[in-house]
Amino acid sequence: MSKIIVVGAGIAGLTAAIKASESGVPVNLISPDFSERSQSVMAMGGINASLNTKGENDSVKQHFEDTMNSGCWINDENAVWKLTSNAPKIISWLERLGTSFTRDEKGNVDLRYFGGQKKQRTAYAGARTGKQIVTSLVNECRKKEAEGHVKRFTPFRFVSLIFTDEKECCGVNCINENTGEIKSFTGDAVILATGGFNNLFGRTSGSIHNDGYATAKAFTQGVELANLEMIQYHPTTVKTPVKRMLITEAARGEGGKLFILKDGKPWYFMKEWYPEQAELMPRDVVSRSIYKASDAGRKEVYLDITHLDEKTIKEKLDEVYDVCMTYLNLNPIEEPIPIYPGIHYFMGGIRTDENHKTNINGLYAAGECSCQYHGANRLGGNSLLGAIHGGCIAAENAILENPQGKIISDIVSPDRYEDNRTADIMNKSMGIYRSEDELNNALMELDKINEDNALILLARACIISALERKESRGAHQRIDYPQSNEEFKKSTCVRYDGRIRVSFK
Ligand code: FUM
Repeated sequence: MSKIIVVGAGIAGLTAAIKASESGVPVNLISPDFSERSQSVMAMGGINASLNTKGENDSVKQHFEDTMNSGCWINDENAVWKLTSNAPKIISWLERLGTSFTRDEKGNVDLRYFGGQKKQRTAYAGARTGKQIVTSLVNECRKKEAEGHVKRFTPFRFVSLIFTDEKECCGVNCINENTGEIKSFTGDAVILATGGFNNLFGRTSGSIHNDGYATAKAFTQGVELANLEMIQYHPTTVKTPVKRMLITEAARGEGGKLFILKDGKPWYFMKEWYPEQAELMPRDVVSRSIYKASDAGRKEVYLDITHLDEKTIKEKLDEVYDVCMTYLNLNPIEEPIPIYPGIHYFMGGIRTDENHKTNINGLYAAGECSCQYHGANRLGGNSLLGAIHGGCIAAENAILENPQGKIISDIVSPDRYEDNRTADIMNKSMGIYRSEDELNNALMELDKINEDNALILLARACIISALERKESRGAHQRIDYPQSNEEFKKSTCVRYDGRIRVSFK
């Protein structure tokens, strides 16, 4: 065994590096920036595990069912069962690494309600859960670095995959962002943990540094993608000068209410339309309800947490308080927060099996760049879980790889797309509701850009996937096909062989 190459140093990449190195395998951990600046630190609300400490009879089975129901049953059932079964062990592991979860009065890791879940299941660290987890994983990874098991390479950005003559993946080419030099990293297997494709859409709640280039380039090199049309609009984001920022779902989990002013009085539309779960319906349902109640954004929608006590807001929703005070000049203890749905998460991405293996031998993917757990709509609190579980599983399986072929060094210059012309096209056509006309127009607009570029190809693949799914399911809502259709209770699978080919699997 020579080496595992991990690309991306957020929560999924850090976990993969730690776990692979625990088996004694040397790891190269490559990223354009420090882990502390990865998108993972933006994760606020929490991580799901059926710890069942609230006397509600929670179970792995219930967590599994909530995840599958929210994903509209196009998520990989075996993979989801393993994910939900492993969740309580993951929380224990994170505690051992020193993650400072918020505790309940008995000293247990506290759990709160999140959307689409019938039980209190979301463990958290105030509203800074991502930061706390990154901190403990970075500490653990530093130990592995000090022992010589993990070697970090920063600031190196992914350029392309390297293959053997037998078409197995055995490395990556990266560009040193300080010097512009291309460096090749080779090993027995590669794990991509490169995040979602936020920058294709411009203003999302995620990091614009996650531009999807690694996914896009891998696609041009023969890697299959899946469910690209499944894009999650988080119900409560706020507009700030540079990006959309998240107001965590935990605000609704703690009792926050959504309203619109009707005849001068608050109209609590979620309570009226969904009396049982109200604001805690799955995200796709809440986002669509906001869209409808606000007449497609023409009326202001508010999230009200003013009835919560100050201690809850300042301790359990600390980041919400900070975001409102810093970016909106608004005190959420006293005033409701104007919100609107914004792009938050890409359920689709690199198609992997339950071992996190792609269609290419030697290549694995974990975290938001990979696709298998979340189906048509992800549960809040399942992304951190998926990233950590995925990092573990990818590492476990990658260390068994042993490429046989001769390395083909294929250094390609990066064809990153710096201009933001895709954002308008993508936002217009891939909104909360879509139609054939808008999707076809988007393809024509992309044609006009007329550039041979991996990211444009990824944009086209998203739109073609949305066109081919002639139904409405979860995050994918077609005004021309408003019903879900059993025929499409499958994942869209996209591959590129000079043409984009879509099938349903
Ligand atoms: O609302 C939130 O805190 C988001 C959590 C998630 O996407 O998992």
